[in-house]
Amino acid sequence: MIKINWKVIGMLTLAGCLVTGNKALAQQDSIDLKVESLLGKMTLAEKIGQLNQYNGDWEATGPVTKDVGNKINEIKQGRVGAVLNIMGTTHIRTFQDAAMQSRLKIPLLFGQDVIHGYRITFPIPLGEASSWDMKAIEQSARIAATEASASGINWTFAPMVDIARDPRWGRVMEGAGEDPYLGSLIATARVKGFQGNGLGSIDAVMACAKHFAAYGAAIGGRDYNSVDMGLHTLWEIYLPPFKAALDAGVATFMNSFNDLNGIPATGNNYLQRDILKGKWGFKGFVVSDWGSIGEMINHGYVKDNYEAAEVALKAGSDMDMESRSYINNLSKLVADNKVPVSLIDDAAKRILRKKFEMGLFDDPYRFINAKREKTALNTPENIEAARDIARKSIVLLKNEHQLLPLSKDLKTIAVIGPLANAKKELKGFWSLEIDKNENNVSLLEGMQKQAGQTKLIYAQGCNITDNSRVGFADAIAAAQKADVIVMAVGEAPDMTGEAKSKSNIRLPDIQEQLIKEMKATGKPVVVLLMAGRPMIFNWTADNVPAILYTWWLGSQGGNAMADVLYGNYNPSGKLPITFPRSEGQIPIYYNHYNTGRPAQGDNDLYYKSAYIDLPNSPRYAFGYGLSYTTFEYQDDPFYSKIAMKDNQTLAISFVLKNTGKYAGEEVVQLYIRDLVSQPLRPVKELKDFRKILLQPGESRRVTFNINKNMLSFYNDKQELITQPGDFQVMIGSASNDIRLQRTFELVN
Ligand code: GLC
Repeated sequence: MIKINWKVIGMLTLAGCLVTGNKALAQQDSIDLKVESLLGKMTLAEKIGQLNQYNGDWEATGPVTKDVGNKINEIKQGRVGAVLNIMGTTHIRTFQDAAMQSRLKIPLLFGQDVIHGYRITFPIPLGEASSWDMKAIEQSARIAATEASASGINWTFAPMVDIARDPRWGRVMEGAGEDPYLGSLIATARVKGFQGNGLGSIDAVMACAKHFAAYGAAIGGRDYNSVDMGLHTLWEIYLPPFKAALDAGVATFMNSFNDLNGIPATGNNYLQRDILKGKWGFKGFVVSDWGSIGEMINHGYVKDNYEAAEVALKAGSDMDMESRSYINNLSKLVADNKVPVSLIDDAAKRILRKKFEMGLFDDPYRFINAKREKTALNTPENIEAARDIARKSIVLLKNEHQLLPLSKDLKTIAVIGPLANAKKELKGFWSLEIDKNENNVSLLEGMQKQAGQTKLIYAQGCNITDNSRVGFADAIAAAQKADVIVMAVGEAPDMTGEAKSKSNIRLPDIQEQLIKEMKATGKPVVVLLMAGRPMIFNWTADNVPAILYTWWLGSQGGNAMADVLYGNYNPSGKLPITFPRSEGQIPIYYNHYNTGRPAQGDNDLYYKSAYIDLPNSPRYAFGYGLSYTTFEYQDDPFYSKIAMKDNQTLAISFVLKNTGKYAGEEVVQLYIRDLVSQPLRPVKELKDFRKILLQPGESRRVTFNINKNMLSFYNDKQELITQPGDFQVMIGSASNDIRLQRTFELVN
């Protein structure tokens, strides 16, 4: 057994480097030296072992490999570098103990899909994206990291930063929607939240930007399907959030299942070598998605795992999650002179470097502390934070006659629907402990706590999908006794998420039938829609006076919804993704090109996208969301078109006024259009926004500073350029609700 005194190596190196004066550089150099020193002691088999990741035995999140053999023995033999899906410090300790029995005692990494919370479940990422609140989103990831790292996890497979324009794709719930600018800010916030004060902090976990790349553009919205797109779209729309994650210091990337333009991402040199490790200089490591290396056989890109291992390693996939291609073939590939040891060394060094940065060589058990696990989870302040971001994630879609907020003087409220008293459903897909319900609050419970003198009558009415109307009578009876009906409808957690693509994204028909029955009672109806994706619910949208889109809000969903219903919080959410009227409209998104025959209205012929059987516009636009109050955008009296040099910034300002009777937050959105450009630019692109809280009657001057970066775009050689000419600035409350327009000229 070789004993390595890392401390001595580290001290000598650090001392040497501190003379040069740069501590961070010194630390990095010290780690690099430790990595080189360790690598020099490793056999080829041990190096390959670092590139191998196994699933634990908690929950498979992919097709499980048969005949898994004895993983603990393999860990003892140094054949495993990381594991995933192992819950709890007790269990994790057994795996780390095994690693400590290997010849070089190289600690394991423990990965988990901590997507929206660990023990406390936060709103799904698409819900949080509706808050447009970067501080709140960062805090959500920070708390998730604090809980996960206290439970033995040191690596989360998040943030998922895939741009998604197709709500038929189940994984829209996991990302930040359709916009590259908003998606990039959210990617940054989540990486910072997960990695906190930096790798090595006891409450930091390594983040993982996934799925690289363009996974959200799967044809037909069918998960795992091919992606075919021009490089212009790849660079303009799908890559920016990954670059933002990298610039935020993300420790790892995960590649994607899809092929991109005929080459599987996991074997795609252009993506992983040319762009990620080459042009962008990524120094972390790339883990394959579950089995994706071996799945290149299914793709028809390689003939067997031997060739899959060769292609994937050469293309820059450093770690093999669960396909066993690396562990079973890399030694032979080296012996056959198909793969140089240098590639294995590079991959192993990238992985070892992260283990050193995480402090795992100083103390392999630093994250495995049962006492800390007990005290760090479910703290009152973190539960309160979950409630806060849940409130902020709610989008008010409609509020006719100011039906909301509900008056505390109401005598009776009927609380109706299959999700009215649901708990685990509110946690949604990718909730780690969906059946653990302590500290989870249903809508009914949340309302009961704030109902005061108002009597609540609950009736489920129907189930989420089966067509039984047996509960309708009770619901109608409850409704007839009530002054207002509050309904909670939507999806079960397994209706949206990974491998949950749907051709029909309508609210289940039985639920819309129940809504119609409630409407028929003549009582005012409020509908809360709980889902992971944009659903289609046209009858409800047209006929119900008050509608809230709540997504899956997590553990504190019930309290958050009650806060909004009773007006303790004025909803401020804005949609991060377009809601279609029909699946036939998909893909539909706001930042489209104008085309030679731009749509003039909703029903014009011989013009773009004019279906003869459907209006052109979406049901709800990107950036849309109402408030209990109203806001006025007061333009400055005089504004002439001015010129701007590309090394200048142009200030655009106006006055925002709260003209209603409630304090509220408005997300003021700034869109820009390059009126003439080659190649084309979209009719508008989100380039900045402010979330501003105003008291009733309060006014505030809002100033945006336009700079060259906001006007830059990729040309057909993927170079970032700007072109002189006229630009339009649009400021508004939604992408389809522009309140102020101005033009300026960019001059060389
Ligand atoms: C899954 C997902 C990926 C996840 C991984 C591990 O198949 O595609 O997002 O991180 O496997 O669970």
